Amino acid sequence: MTNLDQNSVIRQQFGPAAADYVTSAVHATGSDLARIAEIAAEFAPAHALDLGAGGGHVSYAMAPHARRVTACDLSEAMLAGVVAESTRRGLTNIAPLAAAAGALPLEDASCDMLACRFSVHHWRDPAAGLAQARRVLRPGAPAVFVDVIAPPEPAADTHLQAVEVLRDPSHGRDFTMREWHAMLDAAGFAVTATRSSRLRMDFAEWTARMRTPSVQCAAIRALQALAGAEVARHFAIEADGSFMIDVILIEAR
Ligand SMILES: C[S@@+](CC[C@H](N)C(=O)[O-])C[C@H]1O[C@@H](n2cnc3c(N)ncnc32)[C@H](O)[C@@H]1O
Repeated sequence: MTNLDQNSVIRQQFGPAAADYVTSAVHATGSDLARIAEIAAEFAPAHALDLGAGGGHVSYAMAPHARRVTACDLSEAMLAGVVAESTRRGLTNIAPLAAAAGALPLEDASCDMLACRFSVHHWRDPAAGLAQARRVLRPGAPAVFVDVIAPPEPAADTHLQAVEVLRDPSHGRDFTMREWHAMLDAAGFAVTATRSSRLRMDFAEWTARMRTPSVQCAAIRALQALAGAEVARHFAIEADGSFMIDVILIEAR
């Protein structure tokens, strides 16, 4: 057992992985990033917020279309990577902000666009984080949330959360679509569009990025070997442990 609080567990997990998140192909590419850039181009926000910026790929997608971008993350090490990569790309309008989603040091209605990609499933208090997202966003301005989605079937849901937390102890929960709709509704967002896709997780890369100890890799493989046929089919589990996840892009106002 660790005495660290959840935010410290997250910083401990992501700090050493910062450089890998900048170069990760799974994070650096995707039609979801193209859609975020498209929305930024349409709305030309004066101030865009990348919440849970990680390696900064959402910030790099919005920066050419925004006057300024705030890359917000819990991890200072991640933000140092974003600053270095922004400089390398010649993007001068991205500023780092070390803060938790649940306590954003930003004025009410001070952002004209918000995008949050693959971060909510780590948050200690998703309801508080989404309420803060709503608070700092100007009413009517666009918000985009991208995350891994848990399937509605209990066994597949439990399998997903189990392999996620074995791989990364800072994992909180991959929510179902029903849960996402309820959380966004409670925070005051109105969903305007959703797009689902599937993403292949290469087992070796997926575990290396989080420095998953070999005993936990073995436990994931053991769980996969024992999974029922429906679960194995849903995740299209391959011989080397690679598998498919469901991803949702949610557009909201
Ligand atoms: C998988 S990475 C994000 C990837 C990035 N958004 C992208 O699109 O490439 C998840 C990030 O969320 C951050 N994070 C986790 N919980 C957070 C919280 N409560 N507030 C802010 N950032 C958080 C982590 O530090 C980590 O950098």
